[in-house]
Formats: sequence, structure tokens, C-alpha cells
Amino acid sequence: MAYIEFVGVNKYFDKTHVLKDINLTVEHGEFVTLLGPSGCGKSTLLRCLAGLETVSSGRIFLAKYEITHLEPQHRDVGMVFQQYSLFPNMTAAQNTAFGLKIQGMKKNEIKEKVRSVLDLLGLQDRADYYPRQLSGGQQQRVALARAIVMEPKVLLLDEPLSAIDAMLRRNLQIEIRRIQRSLNMTTLFVTHDQDEAMVMSDRIHLFNVGHIEQSGLPTELYTRPRTKFAASFIGHYNIVPAAQFSAASGWDLPGTDVAVRPEVIGIAAAGLPAEEQGIELRGTVRGSIPHGNIIRYTVDCGAFRLNADVLFDTRVLFNEHDEVRLSIAAENVLTLD
Ligand SMILES: Nc1ncnc2c1ncn2[C@@H]1O[C@H](COP(=O)(O)OP(=O)(O)OP(=O)(O)O)[C@@H](O)[C@H]1O
Ligand SMILES: [Mg+2]
Repeated sequence: MAYIEFVGVNKYFDKTHVLKDINLTVEHGEFVTLLGPSGCGKSTLLRCLAGLETVSSGRIFLAKYEITHLEPQHRDVGMVFQQYSLFPNMTAAQNTAFGLKIQGMKKNEIKEKVRSVLDLLGLQDRADYYPRQLSGGQQQRVALARAIVMEPKVLLLDEPLSAIDAMLRRNLQIEIRRIQRSLNMTTLFVTHDQDEAMVMSDRIHLFNVGHIEQSGLPTELYTRPRTKFAASFIGHYNIVPAAQFSAASGWDLPGTDVAVRPEVIGIAAAGLPAEEQGIELRGTVRGSIPHGNIIRYTVDCGAFRLNADVLFDTRVLFNEHDEVRLSIAAENVLTLD
């Protein structure tokens, strides 16, 4: 049996079917991410595990025990939310100590534990600060400290970084992952940010209105989305009706749609001889946009347009109206269900 198991879990809010027959397992020590658009049921799933919502049907197991109907305080689950939920009248150390105090742990033992967790989160010099004296990122670290210090069986993180700006956010992603690994703490993380999911996760479950659309390693989801929804959510895929793509390329491709990542498309001036074997398309450049270290060209292929990425180069490679030839290795054209 896996460390966490959801077995046929359904959740209705009145007549709205929010979780649809969810079967999901998490192994001990894994960092698993629920990724998906707003309103698809990610938070509801976490809340069902924490006991903050009851399930309508199905069963939930944690560490071999069924917890489906257990009170939240008996589940041994730690949760960190999107909004900072610190006690404003307590210092970072007091906030962190709160749960241990309630448990009746001895004072000097609490002091020792709080100190070591604040150290782990890089907050040693902020122990006596009140939340209003801390930055957003520091407040969220205290919220993490408060959850981690309880040594829960599972840590639930519901978009804990979404209120934090991009630079700090990237640092905290790496920090959280480091701490999670060092404690071997089983973690369920929620985000709607595909990059964040890619950076942090051992495994990703992609959610689509109440069901799991696709599960896998980050690289699997990125390189092998199986459905149109998965391809449109991850990796900036070009999605083209299979019939149109077949007509333009002369290849007979099955399925309803095909998906191609911009970075697997080669782009060359139309006059040059072919460099690679594979699928070839002709088109006209319609525009280009720099995206960090790449330039994304939009190429009009008649019935559809494709984005093709080229590593940034100070030389301008192609201009609007240029005739170009696109080449794609056949294995990089995915057919979608
Ligand atoms: N207490 C509630 N009563 C009624 N409907 C609810 C309740 N909580 C959530 N819902 C509905 O359930 C659906 C899923 O909500 P949930 O909060 O799980 O989504 P989410 O994936 O976490 O979205 P977001 O990324 O915006 O946080 C939504 O349509 C929401 O309106
Ligand atoms: Mg949510």
C-alpha cells in the first residue's frame, strides 16, 4: 500500500461534482504536485486529505490507516495556505512554537525544536520579529516552519508562493525542495504554474475539472502530453488539427490533433537545401518575440501558424515576410487523443 491513497474519491458541493472518482497514490518521501487551472478542484482535494472537507464517497488512507472520517486534529497533517495565516500578535518563534505548546511539550524542548526549524528556514535572526516586521517571503517561511516543526506525516502546501515575487519565489522553490528532501517529508503541493511544478516535483498530476487528466514525471508530462488539454497547459505546444498538418507536410498523421513544441522546430531560409530528414513545412514569417534567451518566430503555414523557438542571437535571423522552411523530426510530432 502506498503512503497516501485516495480510492474512488468523489466530492459534491450541492449538485456540483468537484472531485470525480479520484484515485491517487503518493509514496513516502515523495514530493507530488497537483497542477491545474483555477477551479479544477486542487484545494478541495488537499482539504479532503486534511479533513477540512468531508468526501461525498470514496476512502482516504494515510500511513496504512483509513482517515476518511477522522477529525482533522487526529490526522497528523500539516498545511500551509496561499495567504499568510500567522498570528499577528506573536513573534516568528512564538508562531512556530504554538502547535507544540498546545501539545503540552516541555518548554526547553520546544525552544530547541523551534530554534532548529528556524535555522533550517534561514530565519535564525528573525525569531523575535512580529509578522508585520517580516517580508512576505519571510512570513511564508514562518508559516512553513510552523507546519514543519510538528513533524506531520504529510505536508500540504496550497499555492504557498503565489503571493511572492518571481525572484524570491524561485529561491523559495529551491529552498522548500531542499528542506523537504533533507527531512524526507511526504509533500503534496498545489500550483497552477507549470514551471513551478516542473522545478519542484518528483511526480505531477495534471488536473482538469475534477479529474486527473495525466500523471507522470515532470519530463514525461513535458515531452509526452497525451491530450489536447495537457498539451495546451504544459510546454507552450503548437496544437494543429491533424488533417491540416497532414495536408501541409504530406505525412499521414492519425488522431484529431497533433502537438509540436516550439523548440523542436528547425527554421531555415527557404532557398537552403534540407539539413535534416523528417517532416518539412513551408511558411512565411509573420513575427518574432524575444522570450528570455530565445526568439519565438511565428510562421504562417497556410491553414495554421506555428511558433518556432531559436536560441537568442544578436544577429537578426529572419524578418517578417521571409519565406522559410521548417523541419521537425517525426518523433517530435505528437498525436493527441
Ligand atoms: N465551500 C464550497 N462551496 C461550494 N463550492 C465550492 C466550495 N469550495 C470550492 N467550491 C467549488 O469547487 C470547485 C473547485 O474549487 P477549488 O478551490 O478546489 O479549486 P482550485 O483548483 O483550488 O482553484 P484555484 O487554483 O483557483 O485555487 C470550484 O468550482 C469552486 O467554486
Ligand atoms: Mg485552490
